[in-house]
Amino acid sequence: MRPVITVIITLILLSVSSSISAQYSSVKIEQKVDSVLALMTLDEKIGQLNLPAAGDISTGLAQSTGIIAKIKEGKVGGLFNIRGVERIREVQKVAVEESRLGIPLLFAMDVIHGYKTVFPIPLGLSCSWDIEAVERSARIAAQEASADGIAWTFSPMVDLSRDPRWGRIAESGGEDPYLNSEIAKAMVNGYQGDDLSKENTLMACVKHFALYGASEAGRDYNTVDMSRLTMYNVYFPPYKAAIDAGVGTVMASFNEVDGIPATGNKWLMTEVLRNQWGFDGFVLSDYTGINEMIDHGVGDLEAVSALALKAGVDMDMVGEGFLLTLKKSLEEGKITEEDINKACWRILEAKFKLGLFDDPYRYAQPDRARREVYTDSNRNAARKIAAESMVLLKNEGDILPLKKEGTIAIIGPMGNNRENMQGTWSVAGDHQKSITLLEGVKEVAGENVNVLYAKGANFVSDPELEARFSIFGKNTYRDNRPEEEILAEALEIAEKADVIIAAVGEASEMSGESSSRTNIEMPDTQRRLLKALLDTGKPVAMVLFTGRPLALTWEAEYVPSILNAWFAGSEAGYAIADVLFGDVNPSGKLTATFPQNVGQIPIYYAHKNTGRPLEGEWFQKFRTNYLDVSNEPLFPFGYGLSYSEFKYGEMTLNKTSLKGEESLSVTINITNESETDGKEVVQLYIRDVVGTITRPVKELKDFQKVFIPAGTTKTVSFSITTDDLKFYNYDYENMAQSMKYDWEPGEFIIMVGRNSDEVQSQSVIWEK
Ligand code: BGC
Repeated sequence: MRPVITVIITLILLSVSSSISAQYSSVKIEQKVDSVLALMTLDEKIGQLNLPAAGDISTGLAQSTGIIAKIKEGKVGGLFNIRGVERIREVQKVAVEESRLGIPLLFAMDVIHGYKTVFPIPLGLSCSWDIEAVERSARIAAQEASADGIAWTFSPMVDLSRDPRWGRIAESGGEDPYLNSEIAKAMVNGYQGDDLSKENTLMACVKHFALYGASEAGRDYNTVDMSRLTMYNVYFPPYKAAIDAGVGTVMASFNEVDGIPATGNKWLMTEVLRNQWGFDGFVLSDYTGINEMIDHGVGDLEAVSALALKAGVDMDMVGEGFLLTLKKSLEEGKITEEDINKACWRILEAKFKLGLFDDPYRYAQPDRARREVYTDSNRNAARKIAAESMVLLKNEGDILPLKKEGTIAIIGPMGNNRENMQGTWSVAGDHQKSITLLEGVKEVAGENVNVLYAKGANFVSDPELEARFSIFGKNTYRDNRPEEEILAEALEIAEKADVIIAAVGEASEMSGESSSRTNIEMPDTQRRLLKALLDTGKPVAMVLFTGRPLALTWEAEYVPSILNAWFAGSEAGYAIADVLFGDVNPSGKLTATFPQNVGQIPIYYAHKNTGRPLEGEWFQKFRTNYLDVSNEPLFPFGYGLSYSEFKYGEMTLNKTSLKGEESLSVTINITNESETDGKEVVQLYIRDVVGTITRPVKELKDFQKVFIPAGTTKTVSFSITTDDLKFYNYDYENMAQSMKYDWEPGEFIIMVGRNSDEVQSQSVIWEK
């Protein structure tokens, strides 16, 4: 019998004979980890810290690849992005049966917005403001991925971002700390469930710690320079929310934090993460994140690997810096064996918690995979959630919802493109199965509608630019005929239609990792197409595909109806059609501000007031504003229309003067004055008028998404306590050593509204 198994069995027998309390179960894991660690050689311990990508493994060939040899030698702790339950079983078998100690591997994947059933990109999902739906999407993803061999996902990504030039804004929940924190919790709960050892849960990994979304100029992997107050009050809360929800692992970010790359930053990885927040799982570098510290300029491979380990990084993704150098560093006294033990211990502990030592194949059950992956019920859930995420940006003349009659022309490069529907990070998704807009519209419109299609334009005119966003093989079907010819063909189709649906925007690889853009307007070719379609005089409803806020000033002025569909996943075609035809009433609201132009970036609602705020009309000399464009966003945070008409009553407060731990209750009536049932996201913001540090002009503190049947009124109530008023401030008595988290008495402005711009407000005094 293998030593590990022997030790575990001995321990299990021990625990049975001394059956103590439930608490004993965690002690048991500690003892088991200790006993496994005691059997390991130094090389095997270092091996556990190594996480290669499984690029070169394939069935049959598996035995002969480099990674397989390393697995046999005990030099691999886990593998990621290997697809398919059979292959995973095969590789696990090698680890369990052919390595000296038989320690099972941890199989991971970027299951970011769904597995085979793909949900909207995270930015889109956040626009649902439906936390329960967010959790459900993660639960379904966990169910599918865990059936197919995966035990660990590199999600949630909660890098708050206020810069839509950054392509990875697509992967997070937008610009707000509170909303992102709610999402972080829901995702962790959805993935991990109530018991990590259950076969249908995944261990989650919150990423990228930290501040990655604040890369300078929106250029990926770029420098971040930020005050500690902004870190603690704005960018840290979502990561902390994931930690508080019990996330199993944390991924270090590529960027630097306060002058030291996050991956080698001990203040971040140990002081903040473990000492201040009490995180007790393990930390993983990002892809070659350790090696990249060489280019950051903090040392050679040996130095940066030691730096990462000392900082608190336990596992090395892909770069093998740990594998290649830690032994030498130990010999040279740069690290201690205790440093290695600690990292190895944490990884083993995770494997125990997942139940992999009890059953290495727990997450790889071919039967389950056949039954539980990409089921009708999962796909239906994805369709519903996708429809919830869409944001109606404009609807002049009530072009939408469309009637299920006549002839509809779908025109645009996203009108019939299967590969680009799912959006960034659909690693396991089968792009050939995603539903196109054309298919969705045909299906939902039914037989009475004649649906036509033409491409109308390429995504962009520059083929070299197009090649840069077609790297992962998501075909954009570039049409190399002259632009006029492509357009003329579309106009002929448009002539036959009663209504035109313009399917325009980004291809899915125009956002996501390494897809930063400086021009975020509608690409040239597509703007020309839109103009020509509008010139036909027919009603045009624009369906926008995008992974980021775009500067759509022209479109917002001229196109009568705009539905932002984001990239809504494998069922997107159906979900968009559900909304276009009014089977689903849109209820999404933006979670990242849409700027008028790129020069306004960073633009976000929770800004500070400055000493010269613009009060009243733009432009004013010597005030905080621009000469050439107002401060207003194109579409503010929290904005989104509905087919219903919601009228807000007057908000009432139970008190306007409070003391200490009293709570404030805020009530408002909202009436659906239309004949269409609908959902409204009611938002509550607070401004702390005077502080010992400057405070934002408003901060989201709560929200409710409520269903209001046609012609009825709903009363929405919020309860505010002093917890909602707290913020981080320097602990002046202990300057710069630590932060304190508290509230300060004084005046607070309470705001309620349909978006961050349209609010009503009342002031209260809250004393200690
Ligand atoms: C990304 C991570 C991802 C990792 C593994 C990196 O490039 O930054 O978010 O989890 O690759 O695919």
